[in-house]
Amino acid sequence: MRITSRPADERATAVYSSVNPARTGDVVAEVILGDADTFVTACAAARERQSTWAGIPAPVRGRVMGAAGRLVEANAETLARLVTREIGKPYAEALGEVREIVDTCEFFLGEGRRLYGETVPSEMPDKQLFTFRNPVGTVAVITAGNFPVAVPSWYLVPALLTGNTVVWKPAEYAAASAHALYRLFVAAGLPDGVLQLVFATGDDTYAGLSQALDAGLVDKVGFTGSTEVGRRIGELCGRHLQSPCLELGGKNPMVVTPSADLDLAVEGALFAGFGTAGQRCTSLGTVIVHRDVHDEFLRRFTAAVEAAPVGDPAGDVVLGPLLDARFAARFEEYLTWIAPHHTVSGSSAVGRITADAPRNGFTGVSTEGLYYHPTIVAGVTETDPIFLHETFGPLVGVLPYDTLDDAIRLANLPGYGLSSAIYTTDPADVFTFRRRISAGMVSVNNSTSGAEAHLPFGGNGKSGNGSRQSGRWVLDQFTRWQSVNWDHSGRLQKAQMDVADLTADGGFRL
Ligand code: UN1
Repeated sequence: MRITSRPADERATAVYSSVNPARTGDVVAEVILGDADTFVTACAAARERQSTWAGIPAPVRGRVMGAAGRLVEANAETLARLVTREIGKPYAEALGEVREIVDTCEFFLGEGRRLYGETVPSEMPDKQLFTFRNPVGTVAVITAGNFPVAVPSWYLVPALLTGNTVVWKPAEYAAASAHALYRLFVAAGLPDGVLQLVFATGDDTYAGLSQALDAGLVDKVGFTGSTEVGRRIGELCGRHLQSPCLELGGKNPMVVTPSADLDLAVEGALFAGFGTAGQRCTSLGTVIVHRDVHDEFLRRFTAAVEAAPVGDPAGDVVLGPLLDARFAARFEEYLTWIAPHHTVSGSSAVGRITADAPRNGFTGVSTEGLYYHPTIVAGVTETDPIFLHETFGPLVGVLPYDTLDDAIRLANLPGYGLSSAIYTTDPADVFTFRRRISAGMVSVNNSTSGAEAHLPFGGNGKSGNGSRQSGRWVLDQFTRWQSVNWDHSGRLQKAQMDVADLTADGGFRL
């Protein structure tokens, strides 16, 4: 299949092959890449259509989102199979990802009939105050490929619902999934050009975005990806006095207290650490375990990871291959951070699964897929790179703690702040942790990953600039408040000056 930016731009600068990471000889799509100009042209086209789209009543726009949700649901298995084939996400997780789009559409179908503003009393008679939400204008959305359809929908659905037009640049290695989602949105009734899909490299996109911002064609940027690129996008937007919506990396901690149900904690750590082969922004980074239960936790965690089915993502596995060759190469660099003072467990080897380094029960084809051994690294210390930095891939660090104070200090130390978890049966631990953890999201007796689609999603520190996606909170990303005052007294009433004063007897005492 050959796919191109939409509306079509056939001026290919290069053709990129999006391949199946479980069978790298299987080309999922030949992607015609545009360049910086393609991006700028798409922004100009989207901008041209914005006021017409915003002129369609919000409840009608909401119904388009509802129709998109129904279409996604009706095509759920086909879309999930495509996601599995293109990025190697285990099929059950891919179906969950597709469900997350439906949830988002259902939420915003209703929001089309709310988008509430307020009536506010004035300090003067015969005057009324109101607030209205206005769309920001044209939104540029740049997304990663680990959630190739759900995370884009977190931007596309609320941005379109609130009357913005959107230019979407997905990851090249997830282009076929993006193309399928684009087609579902168009089939849902989106007018021509309201959503533009651009395929381009990261460098061309950055250049195009910079030009589009200079030309005043983009009013808001949404970006999901690495902290490093997020910084550059943040700088660029800052120069244009814009605040982007940034959803960046994480080094998500899980604290296991002495009162925790250890089996539950192990189950949570297995899913959070190794689901999606550890390639969620919410994946577990480090388990911080109380010294009294550390050895027992590690023993059970190791047993669970050793027993976890690894292999063909179309089957029933905990983890399949890495997303793409460039993620595999980067993961191999992270593996070099494993040092002699660490104790490694969870599999029969570390690194790529091969004929010489096999994995028990492996169901993939190791010669054709980007499969890696799941790896637990115990004995990490607070100065280790493996403790301080995100290691996108199937690797989880473990270290002991003595006091909850210290556990929280360690959990905050890497300076990210996306997701976090605590396993405990003591409510005091929960509320202390909740209050002092720097993360935007806290799970209690639940995995760091797997947030529901209608709670605020986002992080602090190196995980983002405080923007929040999902639910009603994301409306503040894609709309701007406008306050209106309407004086019908027939005269100029001056605020703060022409205000009636009922005087108090300040000296009154009982
Ligand atoms: C991401 O990895 O960018 O909470 C998003 C979760 C998913 C979304 C992850 N619902 O793990």
